[in-house]
Amino acid sequence: MKLSDRITQIEASGTVRFTQLIQQLRGQGRDIIDLAVGEPPYDTPGVVLEATKQALDTGKTKYSPAAGLPELKSRLAQQFDGYDQRNIVISNGSKQCLYTMFQVICNPSDQVIIPRPYWVSFPQQVKLAGGRPVFVDTSNHQLDCDKIERAITSKTRAILINSPNNPTGAVYSSEALAGVGKIALEHNLYLISDEAYCLFVYDGYNAASLFNFEDIRPLLIITRSFSKHYGMTGFRIGYVAASREFIRAFSVLQSHLTGNVCTFGQYGALAALSMDDRDLEDWRTDMQHKRDYAWQRATEFFDCVKPRGAFYLFPDISRYLKNGMTSVEFSERLLENCGVAVVPGEVFGMAEHIRISYAVSEDRLVSGFDKIAEAL
Ligand SMILES: Cc1ncc(COP(=O)(O)O)c(C=O)c1O
Repeated sequence: MKLSDRITQIEASGTVRFTQLIQQLRGQGRDIIDLAVGEPPYDTPGVVLEATKQALDTGKTKYSPAAGLPELKSRLAQQFDGYDQRNIVISNGSKQCLYTMFQVICNPSDQVIIPRPYWVSFPQQVKLAGGRPVFVDTSNHQLDCDKIERAITSKTRAILINSPNNPTGAVYSSEALAGVGKIALEHNLYLISDEAYCLFVYDGYNAASLFNFEDIRPLLIITRSFSKHYGMTGFRIGYVAASREFIRAFSVLQSHLTGNVCTFGQYGALAALSMDDRDLEDWRTDMQHKRDYAWQRATEFFDCVKPRGAFYLFPDISRYLKNGMTSVEFSERLLENCGVAVVPGEVFGMAEHIRISYAVSEDRLVSGFDKIAEAL
């Protein structure tokens, strides 16, 4: 039977493909050091688990409002000055927030500007909405506002910003964000801000959010997530903060798509918000320490910009790519011969690079780099 054109033009997630390969090798009894991982190595906080269990015990197991529990939305709105629960919708991880967003804003062949390298799902999700991703290269992993402006056409609908960034770990400066905000205003474009990694910012750096710029709020669509921030990747809870008009449209679509996010999971999320970011300071400190170690080891062999956030390094490996070898082949060899998993840059739209995650225990990180050193 024939499948739709829509699905046949979509590529499977490259990171998911590597996860399957890792599972296969582990199934054969191999010890694999997974530096391809995309989640923090910390246990979900006890308060979250307790609240989720209590929700189950007290019958919070039925449908809830499609756009999310009102108390959770109200609590989340407090992070955004001037917003209330009508500015928030809860969805199944920021992955689904982004998917639905593009469905809401794109008409056929509308363009969405995506800085490159980019997180794997962005372009596929734009395509699934009938839109066209337009890639704009970053410079040393930082936004290049001139290039972004030059990429705008009459079909451009939105600019997508992801800071802290996956795969590079870059955190954009306030000036860069102001620059891109100005462009969005001048050309009347949506500005999508994926802030899934907003907890993980290092060196005491005060990461700016696009929300700080008041004049762009009508154009701004922010997504954040409980996944990385609270070690709740399996809960699948993310949210969008945006204008009421946008949230209304998003909620209509969600009501036909999934309905509410798992009701008892949302109670777990509510409990997570009773924690302060300061309660999570140990995670950030630990991750910064790992960033320092990983970056110092990586720069022994590769050119690598020092990341300021998220939990990834994105080194240039071109000097090791002899005889036409690609970074996909490099990564496969590293996995099969040395048992170390990384993700090839191609899946993020940038060949001759690999993504190394340092979101693993310290001993695994040390052994991972020892094995890479030996392989090289
Ligand atoms: C940049 C970015 N955005 C969104 C997501 C989706 O996260 P979740 O759906 O778990 O909130 C990820 C996951 O890796 C990511 O790296």
